[in-house]
Amino acid sequence: MIVFNDFLKWLSIDLSIKLTISLISLLVAYFLLEKFKGGKRIPGPKGLPLVGIAFSIKKEKMHLELANYARKYGNLCRFNLMGSDIVLVSGLKLIHEVFVTKQDGFSSRYLSNRLGILYKKEPGITAMNDDEKFRELKKICLKSFKHYGDGMETVESLTMRSINKFFTYLSNANGKAVDINDKIQYLLADIVYSMLLNQELSEEEISQITKMSIQFVEVTFGSKALLLELFPWLKYFGYKAYKKICDYERNVCAFWNKVIDQRFLMNQDEKNKDEISGAIDSMYSQLMKSSFQYSRASFCKTLQSIILAGFSTTSSSMYNFLPILLNHPQIEKRIFQEVSEAVGHSRMPCLEDKKNMPYSEACVLELLRYTTVVPFALPHETDRDMDLDGYQLKKGTQVYYIIC
Ligand code: HEM
Repeated sequence: MIVFNDFLKWLSIDLSIKLTISLISLLVAYFLLEKFKGGKRIPGPKGLPLVGIAFSIKKEKMHLELANYARKYGNLCRFNLMGSDIVLVSGLKLIHEVFVTKQDGFSSRYLSNRLGILYKKEPGITAMNDDEKFRELKKICLKSFKHYGDGMETVESLTMRSINKFFTYLSNANGKAVDINDKIQYLLADIVYSMLLNQELSEEEISQITKMSIQFVEVTFGSKALLLELFPWLKYFGYKAYKKICDYERNVCAFWNKVIDQRFLMNQDEKNKDEISGAIDSMYSQLMKSSFQYSRASFCKTLQSIILAGFSTTSSSMYNFLPILLNHPQIEKRIFQEVSEAVGHSRMPCLEDKKNMPYSEACVLELLRYTTVVPFALPHETDRDMDLDGYQLKKGTQVYYIIC
């Protein structure tokens, strides 16, 4: 009875006092939990309660800021971001350990609350854990890209067609200064998409694909969506950022379902191998034969992931190449000279020429090293309790890698 009376009194206190008391209690609980967490603590920045380092890092420079933490706290450090404890691994020795010698324990994919909305039920290839099903899917995708139709000859002719379109755009600019960022994105989206479907895309289709990929970044990495990490229950209250993620998922599935329906299913007859002309056909037919179950939605998300992973990375690398060449005209000159000697000026380079262009190839490899476009890979999660550099990482620990 006394307790109930006390509770009634508590209810009658001013709301702002109640909120202050609740907040202080939460903070005390947070500090006590932090203080008494077991085991040897991995060093790292303290950050603010609940949000961690969220307000002390700039999103667009995140990789540089994380690299600074690694410099300050060591090749294994930890930080908190919106309530999640994250371990940051860097340096050749530890990176080799987690990707090679201890790879088995670090291979699960970490899905944040936001990505979980998109991928938890029906994961595409980029959201799957490293299990047998993932390995089979990866093998099927790689094999399909390499060996469909006439193999690399088809890939080559499709690529040339896209490159020619790009050159036409450049020559139509008549020497006027243009920002070709969009055009490079279109070019690479066109190449990856053509390889998937072995068919030319309309301008409208390419812009739809690039738009969906840009939307992916907006809806999942926007600051409003970030709140879903701290307050996942917001989704039950009509939270707009949550609805946008769901709309994005619906659009992706609708787009790819239409492609699949229109295209194939004329190739369903496994005997008719001549009909197989794009990577997607080969993928589809192999997935149908697999003993694993691949749902339509997860196939759609895999196709979208391939496009997104394929063109966003390569177009950024290519775009980065331009200012580098502008600042190093001697390199541009040497590439031009090598291409002129190996190919001449009357035709486009082809794969056969590659072996005669070692300098150009070395430049591409150096470009990938110098301008790492995915500076901390994709977040992983420990599959089980792991030891690393003398510290214990619990199963399910989120791990970032600095690979730049
Ligand atoms: C500059 C070029 C590229 C870079 C730097 C790059 C980088 C990466 C990285 C760091 C990962 C995560 C690996 C991990 O978490 O273990 C990844 C995964 C992936 N990439 Fe790429 N990538 C590039 C080009 C491409 C292209 C051209 C495609 C497809 C046409 C592609 C498709 C994928 C897919 C499907 C995955 C998820 C499956 C997996 O983790 O193995 N990537 N990529």
